[in-house]
Amino acid sequence: MRGRLVIAMVGLPARGKSTMARKICRTLELDGVNARIFNNGKLRRQMDPEGLTSTPDFFAAANVTGLEMRDTIARRSIAMAQAFLAGDGQVAILDATNITRERRAEICAAFSSLPLCFVECLNADEEALEANLERKADLPEFRGLSREKALESFVQRIAHYEQIYEPLGDEPNRILVDSFDSCILQEHISEVLPYYDRIRDIITTRVVRNLFLVRHGETFYNLEDRIGGDSSLTEKGEDQAEALAEHFATVRIPIIFTSNHRRTLQTARPIAARQEPCSIIALPEFNEIHAGICEHLTYEEVREKLPQVARERGPNKFRYVYPEGEGYTTMAERVHRGLKKVFFLNNYDENIMIVGHRAVNRMILSRFLSRQEEEIPYIYMPQDRYYHIRIDPHKRSFELVPYRSAPAAWAGW
Ligand code: F6P
Repeated sequence: MRGRLVIAMVGLPARGKSTMARKICRTLELDGVNARIFNNGKLRRQMDPEGLTSTPDFFAAANVTGLEMRDTIARRSIAMAQAFLAGDGQVAILDATNITRERRAEICAAFSSLPLCFVECLNADEEALEANLERKADLPEFRGLSREKALESFVQRIAHYEQIYEPLGDEPNRILVDSFDSCILQEHISEVLPYYDRIRDIITTRVVRNLFLVRHGETFYNLEDRIGGDSSLTEKGEDQAEALAEHFATVRIPIIFTSNHRRTLQTARPIAARQEPCSIIALPEFNEIHAGICEHLTYEEVREKLPQVARERGPNKFRYVYPEGEGYTTMAERVHRGLKKVFFLNNYDENIMIVGHRAVNRMILSRFLSRQEEEIPYIYMPQDRYYHIRIDPHKRSFELVPYRSAPAAWAGW
C-alpha cells in the first residue's frame, strides 16, 4: 500500500477536467494503483433519466431546488469516495466543477485526515474551447434539442457557473494546469503527497490509447497525380470510405477529426454514420500542405513548367517551402497545434480518429515516431490502410492495418 490521496478537480465546464481526470486515473491504474473517478455530472444524469437537470435554469444561482440537488449530488460523490478509500481504494478523483470556496471547504472537511490536492484546469485557447462546446452539444443529455439550442443551453450553463466562480486561492495543495497545452502554470504543495511526482508527469505527458490515422479515399486529383486543391472522392474513394465505415463499425469512435477539405469530410461521413453518436470536427490545422504556385498542377507539369521547383524540392523535401505556399517544416507548427486540439477535445480513454492527408498525416505520425526530419516526407501513407497508434507509459506500438479485413483483436475497445 503506497498511501491514499484525494484529487479534486476544479474549473468551469468544458475546460478539460474530465479528460485530465481520466488520464490521471487510467495511468495510475496501469501503474497498479487502485484509482477511481467520482463524477458529479454522471451521477446527476443517473439520478435524472428524464434530463430535467440538463436545462440552463437548473444551474442558475437563484434556483434553490437546483442548488440543493447539486449539493446532494456532491455529498453523495464525496461519500462514495470516502467509502472507496476506506476499502482498498488508493486514489479518489472528484471530477466536478468545485468552483466555489464553500464546496472546496466541504471537500477539505470531508477528507481532513487524508492528503488532498486540488487540480484546477484552465484553457485560454478560445478556438479549442469553441470546438469543445460544439462537441458538448452532441452529448446524449441534449438529445431532443437542435444543435443550436443545445449549444445555447450549454453556453448559458457556463455563464451561470461563471457568476459563482472562485479560482483556487489558499488551498494548501493546489496545481493550476493549462489543459490545452498540457502544462503546469502554478503549483503550491505544502506537504508530501503520495504519487505526486507521477501525477505531475501524467499531467504534462500526452498519451494516446488508440489513434487511428487514416488518409482520405481516392480523389479525382489523385487519379491524375495532381497536387493540392479541394477535389472530391472518386467512386473508388467513396467505396474506400464505406469499407472504412464497415471496418470500424464495431469500434467505438466518438469523434473524427478531419481537415476542412472536402475529401477528408467525405471520407469521415460514412464512418460517422455508423457510429452513434459521433461528432466530426474539421480542423484547419489539418489542411493539406499548401503547394503555392504548384497547387492544381500534376507532378509532371511541375517538372515541365517549374523545373526549378522540382530541382530544389527533390534533394531537400523537408526544408523546401513552395513559393507562395508551405513546406513540411513551416507546416509543423500548425499540425502540432491541431494535435493539441485533438488531445484537448478527446476524452482520454476514448478512441481517436483523424482523417487527414498525405503530408499532414506524415507530420502527425512523425510526432509519435522518432524519425529523422529528412525521412518524414517519405513516410508511407497509403489509401488502403491506416496507422493504428498506441502510446501509453508502458508501451508504444504502430501498426499499418488494411481496412478491407475484419477489425483485429482490439475490436470493441
Ligand atoms: O498528391 C496528394 C497530396 O496530398 C498533395 O496535395 C500534396 O501536395 C502531396 O500529396 C504531399 O506529398 P509530397 O510531399 O510527397 O509531395
